[in-house]
Amino acid sequence: MKNIDAAAHTRGESIYLDDIPLLQGTLFGAVFGSPVAHGVIRSLDLTEAERMPGVVRIFTYKDVRGENQIGGIVPDEPLFAERHVHFCGMPVALVVAESEAAARAAVKKIRVEIEPLEVITDPRIAQARGELIVAPRTFRLGDTDSAWKSCAFIFEGRADTNGQEHLYIETQGAYAIPLENDTIRIYSSTQAPTAVQRAISKVSGLPMHCLDVEVTRLGGGFGGKEDQANIWAALCALACVHLKKPVKYALPRTDDMVMTGKRHPYSSDFRIGLDEDYKILAYEVTLYQNAGAAADLSPAVLERSLFHCTNSYFIPNVRATAYSCRTHLPPNTAFRGFGGPQGMFVIEAAIVKAAEALGVDAALIQKKNLHRTGDEFPYGQLAESEAPACWQKAEELYELEALRAEVAVFNAGHALFKKGIAVMPVCFGISFTKTLMNQARALVHVYSDGSVSVSTGAVEMGQGVNTKILQVAAAAFAIAPARIKIQATSTFRIANTSPTAASATADLNGRAVLMACTEIVARLKRVVAEEWGVDAERVELREEAVWERVKGRSLEGEETGEGQRNLGRSLEGEETGEGPRNLGRSLSWKQLVLLAFTKRVNLSEHAHYATPGIHFDASREKGHPFAYHVYGTAITVVTLDCLRGRYEVDAVKVVHDGGASMNLIIDRGQIEGGIVQGIGWMTVEEVLYDEEGRLRSNALSTYKVPDIYSVPRRIDIDFLHTQRDNLAIFRSKAVGEPPLMYGIGAYFALRNAIRAFNPAAELAFSTPMTPERALMGLYSGGGPAGMTNEGEERAVKDGQGKRAGNEQLSPASGEGHE
Ligand code: MTE
Ligand code: MOS
Repeated sequence: MKNIDAAAHTRGESIYLDDIPLLQGTLFGAVFGSPVAHGVIRSLDLTEAERMPGVVRIFTYKDVRGENQIGGIVPDEPLFAERHVHFCGMPVALVVAESEAAARAAVKKIRVEIEPLEVITDPRIAQARGELIVAPRTFRLGDTDSAWKSCAFIFEGRADTNGQEHLYIETQGAYAIPLENDTIRIYSSTQAPTAVQRAISKVSGLPMHCLDVEVTRLGGGFGGKEDQANIWAALCALACVHLKKPVKYALPRTDDMVMTGKRHPYSSDFRIGLDEDYKILAYEVTLYQNAGAAADLSPAVLERSLFHCTNSYFIPNVRATAYSCRTHLPPNTAFRGFGGPQGMFVIEAAIVKAAEALGVDAALIQKKNLHRTGDEFPYGQLAESEAPACWQKAEELYELEALRAEVAVFNAGHALFKKGIAVMPVCFGISFTKTLMNQARALVHVYSDGSVSVSTGAVEMGQGVNTKILQVAAAAFAIAPARIKIQATSTFRIANTSPTAASATADLNGRAVLMACTEIVARLKRVVAEEWGVDAERVELREEAVWERVKGRSLEGEETGEGQRNLGRSLEGEETGEGPRNLGRSLSWKQLVLLAFTKRVNLSEHAHYATPGIHFDASREKGHPFAYHVYGTAITVVTLDCLRGRYEVDAVKVVHDGGASMNLIIDRGQIEGGIVQGIGWMTVEEVLYDEEGRLRSNALSTYKVPDIYSVPRRIDIDFLHTQRDNLAIFRSKAVGEPPLMYGIGAYFALRNAIRAFNPAAELAFSTPMTPERALMGLYSGGGPAGMTNEGEERAVKDGQGKRAGNEQLSPASGEGHE
């Protein structure tokens, strides 16, 4: 089934925050953010700003009626700075004016004097100073201390991954509207309506039942609106409460980039030990997470880095320690993968370090160490592993050996273009790691005309969750999708929602919908059974009608081999009498609903689902935190222009474990999008703060995001249709985040291409591998052997010749970049 938003998106009819028609009298906000990353506010002068035309009022922490606090996990994040500022862009004041332009103009007239304090941007320095957000955590399996003795080879190193800007197309924003009796409706571009509701409640002092947070859809969230939508909503609500006027604030792109946190950069140390046979016996890792100035979601992100620190591998002895380090950057936050990618990068780097030192292919070590069913993760859960199956299938289907041979032939034949290939297995746990968050509710109404309305806590942000939820309801009622409408997410309809995150939204909310629909179906069946005087067991919904199942026969064609012939004819509203002899009776869906309504049967249901069987004991760091895992393997091939450092991704070839996918089109879209976003993180996207903690990459001119040239020339996706039972909705495994980590392969493929050109290259395990860094790497370590002046000249000629002669190869097509 196609994404139900496809047509409206294409026509430009979908409603985002900025498309909501404005009420008369709406005012507009703009934030004055701290120009300094760390310091003490000595004075704040608003007088000139207040006199600017159109300015209604300027708010500061003094106007907060409740608590000046929006920290979700740890209460360490003031909404407005009071005496101290902790990062550049930290809200100091909110100007509310009659127009956006007036509000922004007034912001420029605010004067602040800040006495600067030392700025820390490096997590290792923060850790050394004891600047930790929460206590460090350590996951352990086996005993690394004694395992080192059994290792034939031990390697150590450091790995660094940089941040990533979410760059959702729709920026952050909110629109608060005063209703009667202290009630406020807030339209928010948030993944977490309940988190917004809680934050506003705290700041305004209004109870949650006064706050209706409504979300129709997001123009992307990618984790950036899981926690950080709260600020703008709280600001708008605060002004709305004071002024009793609608207040809107949709952030300009640069404000959004400067004021919001990003993917956490990590710096890590690793130590890996292997036996003679390249089995990994021991792995130790220390992760330094750059959390930024406040906790935000950092402790939870940190936890997932630990959960995924061994990726798809079974390692019998592991010790993994993680520090969440407080620096003076905007609080970093959730980003697709939620710490998992950062943890996985380090183990991949460790394996590559070993492989390079041992002179073997990394894939040899990777494959040998994939975990199998029954193997224990460092956190105690036992794997139901599809890792070897995905790897095996990818290797065979995409002819890995032949691909390798092609790369070798290409490299032998080209002096200035080199290809690199890398394999990236992925294993990602599905569930919120905080067990309590794994719950969801659904409210289903069947109206008397047979149309159906479904509300859940799920937020549609492009990932297609509404389509999947609609499929669930359509299947449960056996009716056409067109009869069903998925309503905007609202905290008045559905309470206490978990954020749309952790890839688990369709699983959690879909299951709740299924429960609600199943209950209504049971009621409908009882009505019919009574009407027909038959056993309710013999009543069945199918193809927009209710049927009486003929005795002894099942409606399930698969089971009896008889199928539709056992059904009575659908009367399509003509008559409702008995069907032909030996066949059952039937009623159309609309007749059925009307019949139930006239009999005063409840046609609405609210259901609650909580994932069974999951638990985690943080005091022992052991448990069974995930409902299941998603697996996959990606093969990435790149071509590097060794004269310029430019590159292209030739192909990403994936075998992805989708369980029994309920929507291959949507899943494919998620996989393709995840891969490109992952490649962006690993290659061109470079978040850059200077030593004063100011964001230098604060616009699309200085922050490069993947464009059409970064997209792999081909993405092949094959689904591993696993039969194993799982807790996914309809056994269709979650797909939102895992594919991002396939993108990690691009870094290692590029690294291999550089080494093909210059085996002596000195390459830190540090991302992103921008073209600039690739170029530095190509000529590092004394440069490629034999690269004399004479050689260079020859190479240049060779390069030109090749570019002309290889139209189909990316080096040639790379011309288009300029
Ligand atoms: N896909 C689109 N188009 N837009 C998004 O914002 N967010 C990703 C992923 N895919 C996102 C997306 C993230 S971070 C998560 S956690 C999941 O979608 C959340 O949705 P799900 O639980 O329905 O998979
Ligand atoms: Mo996704 S990072 O869990 O919003």
